Amino acid sequence: MQVFTDINGFRTKRIELPHQARIGLVPTMGALHDGHASLVKRAVSENDFTIVSIFVNPTQFSPTEDLNRYPRSLEADYQLLEKLGVDYVFSPLREEVYPKTAYFHFEINGLADQLCGRSRPGHLNGVVQIVSILFHICQPSHAYFGLKDYQQCLILQHLVRELHFPLQVVPCPIVREIDGLAMSSRNVFLSDEERVQALFLHQSLRAIKKEIDAFTSVSEINDFVLQQLIHFPLVSLDYFEVLNGENLEQVTDLTTTPHLHSFIAAYLGDTRLIDNMRLI
Ligand code: PAJ
Repeated sequence: MQVFTDINGFRTKRIELPHQARIGLVPTMGALHDGHASLVKRAVSENDFTIVSIFVNPTQFSPTEDLNRYPRSLEADYQLLEKLGVDYVFSPLREEVYPKTAYFHFEINGLADQLCGRSRPGHLNGVVQIVSILFHICQPSHAYFGLKDYQQCLILQHLVRELHFPLQVVPCPIVREIDGLAMSSRNVFLSDEERVQALFLHQSLRAIKKEIDAFTSVSEINDFVLQQLIHFPLVSLDYFEVLNGENLEQVTDLTTTPHLHSFIAAYLGDTRLIDNMRLI
């Protein structure tokens, strides 16, 4: 496995790779866990060469968010990626990725007005910016993203289509702890008690999925979630929504929407967690 921290060094390597090669890219912000590993394993098994990028992207954090305390474990990440059979790690420096003065930024129409796009203004614009930069530098034929960040994955699929990036986005299933909590780099911040109560996210989504036929409207589902929340005093709900999973539009009728999808985000202390589940 070769590690590159400079863009030109990596580009030189990239252009040496055979023209027809299938090249997988797994973009990450590091602090790798089994969720990331599932994407990497899939990329390694499906491609001739696998690139994993590690870059804690400042433009997707607002000034009040956790950029500075975001977990970093570069050495452990390298060891894991080596074991998983990754060919190249690209972990560029912030100063090289972003010039001091930036004249351009991305805007997303429609798909970022709800969920994390609404709770974290600018966040998804920053994601689109860095992923576009990574696509330009790494030139993958396949790029792997987790459905844990459902809205991010959907937006990136549209980005590829609209900007005509010559690559395919491969959405990958959510990896969970044994008790159902979606794996996240931020789970390390949870105290023991918060870790127990964090199960609210998965449990409420699962309960709704199980009983979906019993609900007659979205507002009934919303009420159900708020009732459950009473038993989890450490959980502060950011959003809970049931939307059309294809386009993230509001659902007016549960019976006529072909892809019903539930989304949740909540704080436990200062730690913000997200989860989602297809209902139908
Ligand atoms: P990060 O949170 O490090 O996640 C990197 C990739 O791993 C994303 O595609 C994410 O959806 C996926 N992932 C994280 N937890 C997962 C889980 N439990 N199961 C399955 N996949 C999981 O998402 C980002 O970084 C950034 O926004 C990035 C795309 C790298 C741009 O900066």
